Amino acid sequence: MNYKDIEYKLKEMLPERRLKHSMNVSQCAVKLSEIYGYDMEKAKLAGLIHDCAKYFNDDQVKDSIKKFNIELDSLEENNISLSHSVIGSYVIQETFNINDEDIINAVRYHTTGRENMTILEKIIYMADLIEEGRKFPLVDKLRELAYNGSLDEALLLSFNNTIKFVMDNNQLIHPRTVSARNYILREIL
Ligand SMILES: [Fe+2]
Ligand SMILES: [Fe+2]
Repeated sequence: MNYKDIEYKLKEMLPERRLKHSMNVSQCAVKLSEIYGYDMEKAKLAGLIHDCAKYFNDDQVKDSIKKFNIELDSLEENNISLSHSVIGSYVIQETFNINDEDIINAVRYHTTGRENMTILEKIIYMADLIEEGRKFPLVDKLRELAYNGSLDEALLLSFNNTIKFVMDNNQLIHPRTVSARNYILREIL
């Protein structure tokens, strides 16, 4: 499937602002790939499709889980803001004929991260946060780090920030995010 066809299909799956976000993530992922020496075409594609399952309704979620035999954990279950990445990693295989494992995993782990992330997983995780439409207190600092060769430092800052946020708000933290944070901290030190 070429980009135009994918964009066309995504228009049916996402509201306009989410499509815009997806295109921004795609563009940002290309920029990061240039900096970190990754395949720009693969990054462009992964960015574009990363949120394809974000607006699935309950029936679509149920159908996908059944069709692809997906096992969601207790935090992902009934939580589309976490599960859309896992569900999306299957949907892209069927809907867009993606069979590249690197792209599949970049989509799968873009919400939580995980330990020992590949370069593409890091690029998509970060591009999702710092694409040009994003606004939050830490975004400029993350951009500065990510665009200046310190992608791991940007990831650590982001994981720390996420963990602090969920603690302050008495929310559950996904264990993959804790593993991702510990792993990258050990790498940096
Ligand atoms: Fe997402
Ligand atoms: Fe996203």
